[in-house]
Amino acid sequence: MLDRFNREINYLRISITDRCNLRCVYCMPEEGIKLIDHRSILSLEEITEFTKCAVKIGINKVRITGGEPLARKGAVNLVRMLAEIKEIKDLSMTTNAILLPKYARELKEAGLMRVNISLDTIDPDRYRAITRGGEITDVFNGITAAIEAGLFPIKINCVIKKSINEPDAVAVKKYCDANGLTARFIYEMDIEKGEFGIVHGGSGGDCENCNRLRLTSDGLLKPCLFSDLSFDVRKFGCEQALKLALEQKPKCGVGSTSNKFYNVGG
Ligand code: 5AD
Ligand code: SF4
Repeated sequence: MLDRFNREINYLRISITDRCNLRCVYCMPEEGIKLIDHRSILSLEEITEFTKCAVKIGINKVRITGGEPLARKGAVNLVRMLAEIKEIKDLSMTTNAILLPKYARELKEAGLMRVNISLDTIDPDRYRAITRGGEITDVFNGITAAIEAGLFPIKINCVIKKSINEPDAVAVKKYCDANGLTARFIYEMDIEKGEFGIVHGGSGGDCENCNRLRLTSDGLLKPCLFSDLSFDVRKFGCEQALKLALEQKPKCGVGSTSNKFYNVGG
């Protein structure tokens, strides 16, 4: 469906948990976060029901995010439930890949089409520092598992500070080229200050062509990452929440104090 600025809204990003098994410096505070109460988290059935409602207004592309989506028990089951919605032409997941050796095959069998994997460096020590303790071999094993499972195309999300020519980014690009992966470079953002840029190799950050809605794990439908607008799908019901989000999706984001990467999944 078109919004009031003539943008075709067809992309829904669903954050299924605010938990994560890493603590990336630009995403989470070291001590962790105040987690959303279990009782507020949408059930897999509620997420599926909402998504069925969303395809009726033209959503045909769905991404599962987090936190780390695979940290939620039932992530594979959710994929299976969403894969049954025939209007969805593109069903993907953004993950840090740590748990992919365990789940890649099951995800593929459940109907996941492809994955985006977060990787900002290929240096083990730098990776440990950026993620505050992550082991890069787990990521490489996760990528191998995704390749073996056939979750193509595999895109690598690389967060950059200033330029795609900085050493970590150059090394990630080289690694991707050598392994048949697509690299996407994302400027480190500050949601609160509304600091964001376009994604090199991707479609994010381009307000004029923004096609997205976001659903948080506690059931808030957000029309823009850089706005505090949100509509509680339990309170309004799926249809009304979608209508309100579409009607009020801002022309361009300015900043948000409530949105965090770990609750809206970028
Ligand atoms: N700026 C840019 N990207 C971020 N991500 C998390 N926090 C930030 C930030 N502050 C990215 C992760 C992941 C995706 C879900 O969002 O690296 O690839
Ligand atoms: Fe976890 Fe992703 Fe945030 Fe890193 S960026 S802490 S992997 S949710």
